[in-house]
Amino acid sequence: MNDAALQSALEKVFRPLSCPDVVSVDHLTRADVEMLLELAKLFKAKKTQKFSLLKGTSVGLAFFESSTRTKSSFDLAGKNLGADMISVGSGTQEKKGENFFDVVQNIAAMNMRIIVLRTAASGLPEQASRVTNAHIINAGDGTHEHPSQALLDMLTISESFSDPRGKVITVIGDILHSRVFGSLARIVRLLEMELRVVAPYTLIPEELEQTFGARFYSNLEKALPGTDVVYALRVQGERGASGYIPTLREYSRGYGITAARLRMANPGAILMHPGPIQRDTDIAHELVQHPQSRIYTQVENGVAMRKALLYALASGPEKELGTHFSPL
Ligand code: CP
Repeated sequence: MNDAALQSALEKVFRPLSCPDVVSVDHLTRADVEMLLELAKLFKAKKTQKFSLLKGTSVGLAFFESSTRTKSSFDLAGKNLGADMISVGSGTQEKKGENFFDVVQNIAAMNMRIIVLRTAASGLPEQASRVTNAHIINAGDGTHEHPSQALLDMLTISESFSDPRGKVITVIGDILHSRVFGSLARIVRLLEMELRVVAPYTLIPEELEQTFGARFYSNLEKALPGTDVVYALRVQGERGASGYIPTLREYSRGYGITAARLRMANPGAILMHPGPIQRDTDIAHELVQHPQSRIYTQVENGVAMRKALLYALASGPEKELGTHFSPL
């Protein structure tokens, strides 16, 4: 398929997103999500084939926290589609005392169409979206949200279950500190899946059930029967989570996913994890590449979904900046 053929297939699916920035799943409609899933499937079929669909489009990657998967997959996605990619990382603010919003506005001044932002603080991408004409994609902000992860996860789920509606997803682990959970819970609700959560009481936020419609279980043996998607999270030591549990060994004994526990879920259940994995703590070493595991499929799908996001934002209307807010 050449550019023209792919472009024609994409145009049959594409319509502008209902939001100029992708900072929270809350801003996406069900139609937005379904359209992004369709675009991502078209891109996935092309693997790493190069196209010039985003030729002349500049994309900035501004990661103020480390990343293995998200940053490299946005970078590869943009390059495969012919965008000009630039990258700034941690250090700028700390070493030179530059204001976060100045960093964003300086990158935007180079005529960036899209800026992909990862920040240690919750809410900064949303604030940044109000001070720049560039479309902002939240690549993970503190303990708040990580929308592109939720979208690639839903692509992965939809490959195993063509209609996710009514399917049961059980999320296990450090819910309290997880931005992955923040976006996953929102997209699961939007697509009408049933959400179960298993964790020590200390790693569960207040009002979880009211906020996300999730059902809390204190042990895996009760939660896993009837589960279609087993989704493990890691204990986020860098956010102080180890202070909420006695020891990682104890945590693993109660909440680690083993082969025996995976068998408690439905026979066709899939196993997912956003990474980084803590082998033999969140998930048994031998399950990482188990036939039911979709962990590396999630990584592969990350590139396709990020192509869909970049394409959708670059192909929609240019962003108009509101004047109601300035943090400077
Ligand atoms: N899943 C995820 O966000 O991984 P990275 O921190 O490596 O980007």
